[in-house]
Amino acid sequence: MKFFIDTANIEHIEEAQNLGILDGVTTNPSLMAKEGITGRVNILNHYKNICEIVDGDVSAEVIATDFKNMIKEGEELASIHNQIVVKLPMIKDGVKAAKYFSNTGIKTNLTLVFSPGQALLAAKAGATYVSPFLGRLDDISIDGLNIISEIREIYDNYNFETQILAASIRHTMHIIDCAKIGADVITSPLSSIVGLLNHPLTGIGLD
Ligand code: E4P
Repeated sequence: MKFFIDTANIEHIEEAQNLGILDGVTTNPSLMAKEGITGRVNILNHYKNICEIVDGDVSAEVIATDFKNMIKEGEELASIHNQIVVKLPMIKDGVKAAKYFSNTGIKTNLTLVFSPGQALLAAKAGATYVSPFLGRLDDISIDGLNIISEIREIYDNYNFETQILAASIRHTMHIIDCAKIGADVITSPLSSIVGLLNHPLTGIGLD
């Protein structure tokens, strides 16, 4: 299972990278804003800086919601660095854009996925990643892990190559449960990743 970090915070990305377990990064416009990164040029530069720290894929999300502008924005993002994955929303134009990019060799991540049906469309469109949102489903009393299991079953039935990227991770147990189900990737805040280190018996043994 790949470990992505879900942040635009450079210190957190460097810490995960230095731990030697990082396979990539996901961001979104809210995470960029949280770090005070605003304006097109600053955002593009920030993505470039992130790509220079990590070795793996870096998801950069489009703001546009119509096909034409998604393509324009996605191509601009993809031109920043060969590690950029264009992150697209799971709406009709997002699926069309994923298909377009899959035909042109640009990697995509279909985000805001909350159902197996949406994940099936992502796979049919040739998305590189599909991002089901575990925590946000749990927040409204829908079992997020169950949705990921259903997607796993569907993808395995047909050998779809789209990778299941479990997103909206809230704690360490989400990561462990995703590993048991067979999610291909988790994207998580640094706190949940380093939280996996903790066990009182390790501390006692060390003392
Ligand atoms: C990742 O791609 C998503 O943007 C992110 O995991 C969403 O997490 P949240 O539900 O904590 O905002």
